[in-house]
Amino acid sequence: MSNTNDGHTRSSARVGLQPVANVGVRICGSGSFVPDKVLSNADFERMMDTTDEWIFQRTGIRERRIADPAKGEDNKHFCTQALSRALRDARMDPKELDCIVIATVTPDMLCPSAACEVSAAIGAGHAAAFDVTAACSGFVYSITIAHDMIRAGSHRTVGVVGCDVMTSVMDYSDRRVSILFGDAAGAVVLRATDDTTRGMIAQCMHADGSGWRELYLPRSERNFPEGHDASPDKINRLQMNGREVFKFAVRTFSEVIQQCLDKAGLTADDVDHFVCHQSNARILESARERFGLPEEKLYVNIDKFGNSSAGSVGLCFDQLRQSGRITEGQLVMFVAFGGGLTWAASLWRV
Ligand code: UT7
Repeated sequence: MSNTNDGHTRSSARVGLQPVANVGVRICGSGSFVPDKVLSNADFERMMDTTDEWIFQRTGIRERRIADPAKGEDNKHFCTQALSRALRDARMDPKELDCIVIATVTPDMLCPSAACEVSAAIGAGHAAAFDVTAACSGFVYSITIAHDMIRAGSHRTVGVVGCDVMTSVMDYSDRRVSILFGDAAGAVVLRATDDTTRGMIAQCMHADGSGWRELYLPRSERNFPEGHDASPDKINRLQMNGREVFKFAVRTFSEVIQQCLDKAGLTADDVDHFVCHQSNARILESARERFGLPEEKLYVNIDKFGNSSAGSVGLCFDQLRQSGRITEGQLVMFVAFGGGLTWAASLWRV
């Protein structure tokens, strides 16, 4: 039994919620949004003690896109644009969505959720709407959750957005953190299909809360761990121990890819594309080397967009799909890690 957008049920023949074993899940549309404004390494050279050479060598980043709040470019705007584009790509009316899931750690407000705001903005009627907080892993967590809602039979059509406006939580006096991040949103529309070969083949979602202090966004003085600078100008500003996050990332990135391949009974050679969180070009390169992947199998756009947290995986997927590099029926693995600490991978036949 599935809900329609207005809260009524489609079928009265089946009573209670039953898993729908004969349902596949198709990614029937994608969209993304990045703002026009560019913040280059040369701009950082003017703002702080750093160089283009240092930033590029350590991260692979040349420039990133940043929101212009004066133009109304807030989280709601990013998500609304990305999801509207994904719906247009799927040739679907917003009212056909019966759930909206938004992965973000930079919502405009904590209540209502970003998903409720976006639902109203696009006119999605009474679709369910909620946010997922899993930092940079948020998009991968969310497509996994949305997929399983469809496979369970409770929903048929789910819009998923990963979005972060990292500039809204950035301390531009901190050169160790601010040079990494940019703003972006990526969205997909998932829909039930009779083609049971489509959808997720295997997934792994993990977290280690004991590592939270390596990457956190404090909302009050009380949130700072002992020994950290808890001055008022650090509140609502991203705090990161880059060196520790780097070590964690290099280890977990390869581990989670291998774990997901093992669950699927496949090897890296079988996978057409690895769509990965863009955290640092060196972290991506180490995974590429570990699995011997040719460059065309692991897309990198960090040079132009920086690290956009929950926005990056959806942005990469949309760029690959719209440029025709990802095509129907291919095997695609989504991979991410981030604050929490969290990490996840999911392998799909798209
Ligand atoms: O999305 C998930 C979250 N984040 C990540 O994935 C980030 C993971 N970490 C990283 O990408 C790297 O740790 C960074 C790029 C953030 C930093 O690179 P690093 O090689 O780990 O540098 P570091 O923090 O160990 O610093 C090395 C040196 C230090 O100088 P001293 O103490 O050795 O004299 C820093 O002060 O580089 C200095 N430094 C800089 N120099 C010029 C740090 N930031 C800068 C900078 N420009 N922007």
